[in-house]
Amino acid sequence: MRNTSRSAHLALCAASLTLAGPVGPAAAAPAAPRGPALEARIERLLARMTLAEKIGQMTQVSEGNMLTGPGGTVGLEASVKAANVGSVLNAMGVDRTRALQRLAVEQTRLKIPLIFGLDVVHGYKTTFPIPLAESCSWDLAAIERAAHVAATEAAADGIHWTFAPMVDVARDPRWGRIAEGAGEDVYLGSQIARARVRGFQGRDLQAPDSVIACVKHFAAYGASMAGREYNTVDISRRALLETYLPPYRAAVEAGARTVMSAFNEYDGVPCSGNKFLLDDTLKRKWKFPGLVVSDWSAIMEMTHHGYAADLKDAARLAALAGMDMDMQSNAFLQHLPALVREKKVPERVLDEAVRRILRVKFEKGLFDDPYRACDAARRDRALWAPAHLAAARDIARKSIVLLKNDQGVLPLAKGKTVALVGPLAANRDDMLGAWPGPGDPKRCKSVLDGIQGRGVKVLQAAGCDIKGADKAGFDAALAAARQADVVVAVMGEAALMSGEAASRSEIGLPGVQRELLAALKATGKPIVLVVMSGRPLTLGWEHEHLDAVVQAWHLGIEAGVAVNDVLFGDHNPSGRLVTTFPRVVGQIPLYYDHLNTGRPFNPKDHYTTHYMDVSNDPLYPFGHGLSYTRFDYGPLKLSTTNLAPGARLRVETIIRNVGERDGEEVAQLYVRDLVGSVNRPVRQLKGFRKLMIRKGQAATVAFELGARDLAFWRQDLTFGAEAGQFDVWVGPSSVAGPKATFRLTRDVALPE
Ligand code: NOJ
Repeated sequence: MRNTSRSAHLALCAASLTLAGPVGPAAAAPAAPRGPALEARIERLLARMTLAEKIGQMTQVSEGNMLTGPGGTVGLEASVKAANVGSVLNAMGVDRTRALQRLAVEQTRLKIPLIFGLDVVHGYKTTFPIPLAESCSWDLAAIERAAHVAATEAAADGIHWTFAPMVDVARDPRWGRIAEGAGEDVYLGSQIARARVRGFQGRDLQAPDSVIACVKHFAAYGASMAGREYNTVDISRRALLETYLPPYRAAVEAGARTVMSAFNEYDGVPCSGNKFLLDDTLKRKWKFPGLVVSDWSAIMEMTHHGYAADLKDAARLAALAGMDMDMQSNAFLQHLPALVREKKVPERVLDEAVRRILRVKFEKGLFDDPYRACDAARRDRALWAPAHLAAARDIARKSIVLLKNDQGVLPLAKGKTVALVGPLAANRDDMLGAWPGPGDPKRCKSVLDGIQGRGVKVLQAAGCDIKGADKAGFDAALAAARQADVVVAVMGEAALMSGEAASRSEIGLPGVQRELLAALKATGKPIVLVVMSGRPLTLGWEHEHLDAVVQAWHLGIEAGVAVNDVLFGDHNPSGRLVTTFPRVVGQIPLYYDHLNTGRPFNPKDHYTTHYMDVSNDPLYPFGHGLSYTRFDYGPLKLSTTNLAPGARLRVETIIRNVGERDGEEVAQLYVRDLVGSVNRPVRQLKGFRKLMIRKGQAATVAFELGARDLAFWRQDLTFGAEAGQFDVWVGPSSVAGPKATFRLTRDVALPE
């Protein structure tokens, strides 16, 4: 199944939709100056370049202070002056980037400007929620706006290029980098990938609020075995095509100009030397016009994989596979000269790489104004602009998922006494989350900051640290609880317990936090747990024993305000999970669109698929999230029960808000192909719509499905849909909602 804008979409929706309004760039692929004139400029410049100058363009080095792998950088200025560098990563700020750029354009023979890259992952100075959190908003406009704000700030402070979005489908919460992506789903992940590319790049790559996007990590990095970072990936061709590739392709189709290769291998071949992925699939099949950059030292690491004999061999394999730019391996710079002389790498391979690099630089307008990102006045207006902070608060509220709320303990009432406990209650630093970039923890608002002025008396005590065994603070927290009407415990992970190189084998609350919760529970007071984390945690005990559980992730600069907006009902929670929450680590990988197996679980039959010690079901399924109101779904109405391949099927339902508050619902459309030439998942998301429904009111939601939405890679690996019966649901999560059935009348082959 490939996800495109032609995929399932809403035809009609009588309800008012959430979050209208301008988000900056419009929703179309960027219109930078391309075509024959640009290509001619590239050829003229290329014709003047020496071999050494070409290899210099293919080399990216880091400013020395933000290393995420081996190999520091010495003598950056001298390398730039020697035309040995095409791009610098991790240099920041108007002054620093201007100084380096001046060396490139004033002191090198051809005056080719540098392109400055940085991991602007979820905000620049105005830090937004981590990408996993933002994805739980299911609000593509808000997600696009967040990326656009990040681009606006970064592009005013020296940056041309962000190493984002990360679009790796991730199904193992032990993997810390689950925090950086859009969760487990192919369809939603593809939609979000597009939104983020649009947000970063906008329509005009030369606009002052645009940065070049870099889709990463190509490919299937999210399938790292056992959730261990940098570990082996071993997946089938079918899994690659169906599950892992679609979000990268969606991002490329949305106009992303750069792609980063992954650390892992695919089918035994490291991605940075993988011709099938880089050349055949990305560049030829998908017609990607931009450049491929390696991940940090990933070319060199092919020697560790045992795929390249030495660094020279690695340089050869990478260049021949379609790698254009070497991030921090120094392999191209050291070895391509000899490899070309020895005719082991044809110079035309380098020419093709340099064309792609120059194309991106021309499209960005760097030849016309190499200092376009170095405008101090614009920087001063952009960083932490009030509208940016407002956007950060908006999406932070929308990222929060209410997982449990028994007896309506939430929202909190005014006039009460609240014991605000837990190691993250007064914490600002960890609000930034993984990949904080240049975000400033001093600007972050803690939950304690955000509760001020809410009309409650607050007794605050940390109780314990995030990690460690120290229980000396328990007594103070318990004393606060005893004097309070309700306990709000803000607990979870430190920012850097997720992200790169942050895998965990146990994913419960770290340290003695659960013990503190157990002690608090013994006071008999109602307890609301606010979980801040970069991954789903195993929260079985917490779910069973506490009154409310709020998943708040790491929400960025406005975290504390957003959390209180939800706790006090100023914002009715509308986030929905984009990743399954397992009960225990032993269930992992656990995701909603699994296959049925030959022995689907039957409680009456021992010899069916199950564990002896835990249920198959997740603690919280994909798509789950509560509201302070309740929604009822009416039966499905289908425009036909026999769908011909060229026709469209309309699936309609009425959703009623039967609670006491206005609220937003995320209506989710799922299908199941009951019989296929290869096994099909028990459910697959094919559309969704977020809508506001006033209390007591109803809304009609209607989706359209066509053959493309039902298509997949068939047994012979051709793409198409197969005749037969399908189930369809529209519901509030991947395990609920009214169902109907229809038939596709005949097989149909479709372009991929
Ligand atoms: C390594 C990470 O895997 C990648 O995501 C990042 O963009 C680079 N380092 C550069 O910081």
